[in-house]
Amino acid sequence: MFAPVYFDHNATTPLAPRVLEAMLPYLTQQYGNASSRHEYGRAARRAIDEARQQVAAAVGAHPTEVIFTSGGSEANNLFIKGVAGKGVAGLLPKGVIAISAIEHPCVREPAKQLARAGWRLRELAVNADCRIASTDFSVALTEQPALISIMLANNETGVIQDVAQWAVQASGTLKKSASAWFHVDAVQAFGRVPLDFRMLNAAGVHALTLSAHKIGGPKGAGALVLDKRVALQPLIAGGGHERGLRSGTENVAAIVGFGVAAELAVTDLQTKATALSAMRRLLEEGLSQLGAYIFAAQVERLPNTSYFAFADMDGETLVGRLDRAGFAVAAGAACSSANPAPSHVLLAMGIAPELARGAVRVSLGVQNTQHQVHDFLAVLKQTLSELQKMKHSPQGNTEFITTAQARMQAHLPRDNDVATLN
Ligand SMILES: Cc1ncc(COP(=O)(O)O)c(C=O)c1O
Repeated sequence: MFAPVYFDHNATTPLAPRVLEAMLPYLTQQYGNASSRHEYGRAARRAIDEARQQVAAAVGAHPTEVIFTSGGSEANNLFIKGVAGKGVAGLLPKGVIAISAIEHPCVREPAKQLARAGWRLRELAVNADCRIASTDFSVALTEQPALISIMLANNETGVIQDVAQWAVQASGTLKKSASAWFHVDAVQAFGRVPLDFRMLNAAGVHALTLSAHKIGGPKGAGALVLDKRVALQPLIAGGGHERGLRSGTENVAAIVGFGVAAELAVTDLQTKATALSAMRRLLEEGLSQLGAYIFAAQVERLPNTSYFAFADMDGETLVGRLDRAGFAVAAGAACSSANPAPSHVLLAMGIAPELARGAVRVSLGVQNTQHQVHDFLAVLKQTLSELQKMKHSPQGNTEFITTAQARMQAHLPRDNDVATLN
């Protein structure tokens, strides 16, 4: 199989060999249902309990605060819709939900669903560096939001928010009588920067979302780490699994994999971050020499993430060419029409749509090497010069038909209607 170098770890990560090893018995001999009373069931229950402890330990939480879900999307939905569905005494009165303008669609969409049901959706502005704008945040707090959601690290730019600071400000400002719950999507931050739920909880954060497949675990497992004072209405009602908050027979193998992945993710975190930062520095020095504009380059970001664009260069075209040349990277704009829709994150940062359409994300992993970064820069240089030449030759111009246009012309189905970079 043609196997390009994988530079898309914010989309997903390869399963760590030790994770697979830990999961295999639960896909073969240990197939018990964790609710069964016999030995098969008890073995499955013990495995889930251990994974719960591993995940809790990795993020500085108590095991009883960990609710396993099918992933980050479900955990975000569970918190947002769960809080809205259950206030202190029954249904929470429809109030204001404040989310940052750069949230992942699995926060944005449930928030929009609440808005359609009568809540007022308040987007928190970010500045040109992708950081929450403090003046706007203060104004938003005067509107007494009942629910606030701010991601710890952005999946596109990698920019890290000081969520503890915002949570302290929110708990200090909001009326004591109001139940204002503060949620943090930590899917991209987990395993890349240290996470401490106890500290965040003391600052006023009530819930954290985690996902296994971004940290070397399997797809289809995640967790909501939840302050037990928050009452939630489950999305899935049934047999009462996960303290009644997420019914359904547990995916034991995936949960076991998540536990091991969580433990591995925080082992030698600093050493891994240092190696990733060094690779990224090398990458960005090369990108700058090639004339790239690097988004949010001056602020604290995940050590593995670089998001950039070249003027007048379509991101999807570049990504397609790089893929064929042996490098798997991501484009920041999704094709929803003849013109690829620029990323909502870049638009929120005030980046011009023309430049945003050129966005390309490289997200490195610990398996990548400096050698691969050097090779990537050489291939990128060559690709850029080919594309420039084609652009200026009348016959070659067709390459610049974007993937979206090509798909429309070929009547191929569209993947998605919004610009979504996972
Ligand atoms: C910031 C962020 N939140 C949530 C998710 C969703 O996680 P999952 O894929 O486990 O549903 C993603 C995944 O792309 C993400 O990047």
